[in-house]
Formats: sequence, structure tokens, C-alpha cells
Amino acid sequence: MSGVHFDEDQKSWLAGPAGVTWSPAGVPVSRRFEDPYFSLADGLEETRHVFLTGNDLPERFTPGFRIAELGFGTGLNLLAAAAAWWTSGQTGPLYFTSFEAFPLSRAEAAAALSAFRTLDGPTSELLSVWDDLGKRPVSLSGGIFLEVILGDARHTVPAWTGMADAWFLDGFAPARNPELWEPGLITAVARHTSAGGSAATYTAAGHVRRTLAEAGFDVERVPGYGRKRHMTKARLR
Ligand SMILES: C[S@@+](CC[C@H](N)C(=O)[O-])C[C@H]1O[C@@H](n2cnc3c(N)ncnc32)[C@H](O)[C@@H]1O
Repeated sequence: MSGVHFDEDQKSWLAGPAGVTWSPAGVPVSRRFEDPYFSLADGLEETRHVFLTGNDLPERFTPGFRIAELGFGTGLNLLAAAAAWWTSGQTGPLYFTSFEAFPLSRAEAAAALSAFRTLDGPTSELLSVWDDLGKRPVSLSGGIFLEVILGDARHTVPAWTGMADAWFLDGFAPARNPELWEPGLITAVARHTSAGGSAATYTAAGHVRRTLAEAGFDVERVPGYGRKRHMTKARLR
């Protein structure tokens, strides 16, 4: 699989396990980036608001729809997308490709996802294939094909041969994880977006919006989730 070979530079970046600590509310927090994996308020609702609504999903779903994501983390965004796909009654395949440098262990993912009881079924299915992620693409119920590509996204996205109709830009906060918001990477994201494709992110940081616009997206600042006043929606010009 394309994501398992690392050059020396990538090896030094792929420095080992994710390094998770837990907030009192049970939310996983990255020690490396000092930032939570999802909203301390309600991760699932935030995901739905930011990444699904932000990409005009499920309305844009069509058979063979392709989602790509920066930062697989716990897999919560994948599960939210899968649930929306099933509910929308789509019958064709959904392709979900996610780029991750510091994979969580199965036990960490299980602990993080245990908070989302409505996703218990799909969570069990995801955990049953967790140890294959990054090694080979896996298939999930309802025609969903998941591939996690390991390595620094600054290398793996430009090398990717696929395209996406919608991107979930879910790095940690730009100030803490600037690598995932670098212009070179966002340009590679744009190059791997289909005509009329979209991207969404929880941040409305000015430099992120400018970077997206310079990469070729029409960018809109829209209401964010919870305490975040704004988020960003982008459509490829
Ligand atoms: C906010 S978390 C993603 C949360 C995730 N989407 C979820 O549903 O749980 C950000 C993710 O980006 C990953 N990451 C940070 N820097 C990266 C890089 N340069 N390349 C690839 N992944 C990176 C982190 O390891 C982390 O899993």
C-alpha cells in the first residue's frame, strides 16, 4: 500500500506512538500537540456540523463518492460519515481515505469512541479491522472502503494517486500543528480535489483561509460549532 514506505525524513517525523492523555471528561488529548482530538463539548455533533454540513453532505453523496481527510485520529469523522452514508440510503461505494502520521492504538481508539453510544455498532466494526489500518485498505458495511495512509501528510498527499470530492481538514489547531496547514500541503489538497469538490475545517484562522484561496478554493466563513464562532467552507474554483 502506498502509505507504508517512508524515506529517512519521514521516519524521523513518524516518531512513534501518538502519545495520548485524557481530559477529565474522557476526551483524548495529544501530548505531542497539546490539543484534543475532538470537541470537548460534543465531538460527534461537531463532526457533523463542521465536516458533513461544511461539505454539503449528505446532499452531495452519489455512488462512488470520495472523501479524504487530514488526520484520522480516533476515526470519529469516518464513523460520522459512514452513519450519514447509511442513513442517506446510498447503495454504491463510498471511498474514505485518511492521512495519519501518529496512529492511535486500538485500545486508545476504543476508549475514545466509547463515549459515542449511538455509534456502538460501527465502532465495533472499525475496531475489528483497526490493526489492518495503514497496512491495507479495508471494507466496512454498506459499501464503505477505508484506506489510512501512514506518514507525514506533507509527503503522502502529494504522492497520492487518488482524488477526493470532499476533504475533511482536521489537523490539530494551526498554531500547534502548523505542518497540516502549510501552503504546500493545501496546494496538494487542491490538486487532489475533483472539479467542483470541497473542503471544510473547524478553523477560520485568516492564514488558513488565505492559503485555501491561494490554492484555488472559493472560501467562505460560516458559523462554527459550539464555542467556535466561525469555521471555513471551501469549494474548488
Ligand atoms: C484533530 S486530530 C484528528 C481527529 C480525527 N479526525 C478524529 O476523527 O478523531 C489531528 C490528527 O492529525 C494527525 N497529524 C498531525 N500532524 C500530521 C502530519 N504531519 N501528517 C499526518 N497526520 C498528522 C494527528 O496525529 C492527529 O491524529
